[in-house]
Amino acid sequence: MAAAKSLKLTRLTLTDFRNYAGLRLETDKSLIALSGPNGAGKTNLLEAISLLSPGRGLRGAGFDELARLGGHGTWAISAELDAADGPVSLGTGWSGQGEGGDGGGQSRLVLIDGHVERSSGALGQHMRMLWLTPAMDRLFAGPASDRRRFLDRLVQAFDPEHGSRVLVFEKVMRERNLLLEDPRADQAWISSLEAHMGEAGVAIAAARLTGIDALQKHIGRVRTGSRFPWGIVAVDGEVEALVSAMPAVRAEDEYRKILADSRGLDRAAGRTLKGPHRSDFSVIHGPKGMPAGQCSTGEQKALLIGLILAQASAVKTETGVAPLLLLDEVAAHLDRTRRGGLFESLEALGSQAWMTGTDAELFDGLGKTSAVLHVEAGTVSDMRKTR
Ligand SMILES: Nc1ncnc2c1ncn2[C@@H]1O[C@H](COP(=O)(O)OP(=O)(O)OP(=O)(O)O)[C@@H](O)[C@H]1O
Ligand SMILES: [Mg+2]
Repeated sequence: MAAAKSLKLTRLTLTDFRNYAGLRLETDKSLIALSGPNGAGKTNLLEAISLLSPGRGLRGAGFDELARLGGHGTWAISAELDAADGPVSLGTGWSGQGEGGDGGGQSRLVLIDGHVERSSGALGQHMRMLWLTPAMDRLFAGPASDRRRFLDRLVQAFDPEHGSRVLVFEKVMRERNLLLEDPRADQAWISSLEAHMGEAGVAIAAARLTGIDALQKHIGRVRTGSRFPWGIVAVDGEVEALVSAMPAVRAEDEYRKILADSRGLDRAAGRTLKGPHRSDFSVIHGPKGMPAGQCSTGEQKALLIGLILAQASAVKTETGVAPLLLLDEVAAHLDRTRRGGLFESLEALGSQAWMTGTDAELFDGLGKTSAVLHVEAGTVSDMRKTR
C-alpha cells in the first residue's frame, strides 16, 4: 500500500503536569490503551496530549490548574510527532505567570522544533486531533456552547486556520463589548471593530458550512459499513444563514449592518447578541429520524462515536492525513461487537488512537499494532512487552 499519511506520537514527556511529576513514554504503536484504577492519571495523560493542539485542551482547564500540586507551579509537555511530512518536535508549557481562572490573560509557551511560536494556533499546522470524553455524554442535550465548541473542533480538523479565526473573532468582540459600555468611545473605532467582526464572522460561518457539508457527504458514503449509527448534521446560525444565501462579501456587509443596528441592544445586554458565537450544531439520529437530544443515553453515545469516526475518515479523505484520536472511557460503554467495530475502524484510519478504561480486559480484542499500558499513581508501565 502507498505510504498512508498518519500522525503518531513516538515520545511524550511530562513535567509537573497534573499528577505526573515526571513521565517519559516512548511508543511505536498506533493503538494505545491506558488502563488503571480511578484517579490513576489516564484522563490527565490524554489531556496532556490534547494540549499539543491549539486551545485549552480537552478539559478546557485554566493553565494554573494543570501545575502539579506540590510541584513548582509550572508545567511542561514535550513530544516527538511522526507527522505527515516527517518528524517534528512539539513542546508546550506554562511559566506560572499570567492570571489564573478563566480570564483571557493566560498564555502558554509553544515550541515547534525548538522555535518559539506566537500562539498555540501554530500547533494546528502539524497536529490534527479529535477527542471524546465522558463529559461529552450530555453534548446533545446540554448547552449550545458545548455543541458549538465540538463543531469548531470538527471543522478545525479539516481546516487548521479555523481555531485562530474563532479566537480572533472573540477577541475583537470582547473589545467591542467594552467600548459599547464606554459613553465616550469613538464610534468610528466601534465601526472598524464591527468590520473586522464581519470579516472574521463570515469566514467562521463559511468554514463551518464547508466542514459540515464534507462530513455529511462522507457519512453518505460510509454509513452502510459502520457499526455506529449515522447522523444528519447541520449548523443553525444567523451568519451561517447569510453565507448560505449570498456571496461572502455581501454577507460581511449584512452582518456588519446587523452589528451596527444592534449597538443599543448589545449595550443593554452587556454582550453581542448576534453572531457566529451564538450558532448551534444540530444532529439527527439518521436511522431513527430523531433529534439526537431525544435519543437514549446509549444511542447518543454511539451516535457521537459514529460522528467522530466519520469525521476522522472524512478528514483523511479530504486532506490525506487522519487526525489523532483521544477516546476517554469509550470502550467500557460498548458491547463486544461494537467494541470490535471501533478497534477495526481505528486500525483502518491509521493515525494513532489513545483510549482509556479502568479494566485492561476491555482491550483484549486489540491486535498487533497496539500497546496496553498500565497507569497507576502518575506512572505508566507496559502490560505486555510483545504482542
Ligand atoms: N494539578 C494537579 N496536581 C496533582 N494531582 C492532580 C492535579 N489535578 C488533578 N490531579 C489528580 O490526578 C488524579 C488522576 O486524575 P485523572 O482524571 O487522570 O484520573 P483517571 O485515571 O482518568 O481516573 P478515572 O478512571 O476516575 O477517570 C486525580 O486523583 C486528580 O485529583
Ligand atoms: Mg478519567
